[in-house]
Amino acid sequence: MLFSDKELREILLSEDQDFLEELYKEARETAKATFSNKIYIRALIEFSNYCKEGCYYCGINRNKYSVHRFRLAKDEIYSAAETAYEAGFRTFVLQGGEDTHFTDEDFAEIISHLKKNYDAAITLSLGVRSYEAYKLFKDAGTDRFLLRHETADVDIFQKLHPWDQSLERRLKAIYDLKELGYQVGTGFMVAAPFTNHESHIKDIKLIREIDPAMIGIGPFIPSKGTRFEAYPAGTVELTRKLLAILRIEHPKALIPSTTALNTISEMGRIKGILSGANVIMPNVSPKFARDNYNLYDGKKASGLEAIEGVRELNEYLKEFGYEIEFTRGDYNV
Ligand code: 5AD
Repeated sequence: MLFSDKELREILLSEDQDFLEELYKEARETAKATFSNKIYIRALIEFSNYCKEGCYYCGINRNKYSVHRFRLAKDEIYSAAETAYEAGFRTFVLQGGEDTHFTDEDFAEIISHLKKNYDAAITLSLGVRSYEAYKLFKDAGTDRFLLRHETADVDIFQKLHPWDQSLERRLKAIYDLKELGYQVGTGFMVAAPFTNHESHIKDIKLIREIDPAMIGIGPFIPSKGTRFEAYPAGTVELTRKLLAILRIEHPKALIPSTTALNTISEMGRIKGILSGANVIMPNVSPKFARDNYNLYDGKKASGLEAIEGVRELNEYLKEFGYEIEFTRGDYNV
């Protein structure tokens, strides 16, 4: 079901708690109709915080000098994957900054190694590369790719990114990935600087057009040492509204309850799920990587956020009537 612009505006402006509780309920019932009470898990491996891009909001952007940079060696990536596989994970998400030290061939080698050794899905989240690179990664066995559009408003996109990036270039990459047959994820930051309800309505409409398999959204959170360090973080409420809208419009999409949401709110993870999210991505990176992969301040990467907390996470989810699903959790049309 698609909302009209008027309905979207009403939801985004609403402060009526009863109305919003109804909306969240409809969203979680929509998720339950597709996924029952199962929550899919993905092992998040943060492989590098080097980045050639200068996104103004991002805590690992190239111009932030206070960042302690790291990149995992191939063996360290393999050993994180091994740990994740043993813990029951069947999806590995390789996420990193746009680190040109890793050539296209390096990634192809890593992907082939993982596909050869593990019966697991591979998701990449490593930014914009060429069509040829994406083809190479796909041929090596990659299943999914996450690339958020960040904001669907062209002018705001430009205010969030330096001149050498554009929304057009992002969208081309997203459509390249779709054409190559990936399960594609896109999404945006909630309440990033300069965004507003109207730009979020554009986000919702762009996501209709892209029709992605996965939709990742989370609140903007400021990062000290970036241009946007003094801007306020997005709210739990606005994130929940947008999650619910996206779930109702995309009943089958894989929608994570993100770390960013859990960072701004004690109960963020479960609030995301109770608004229609159905995926959690625990962190399996080695400690030095977790400590330095800080896209924003206060990012959580331990306890229930991490692989060592996965049993506990399951017990926690059960208190709310959900449980972890330990299979690949592919998108089914
Ligand atoms: N606050 C919230 N999310 C952020 N991201 C990057 N920086 C921030 C921030 N300061 C998100 C972007 C990117 C994803 C990997 O992390 O949306 O696509």
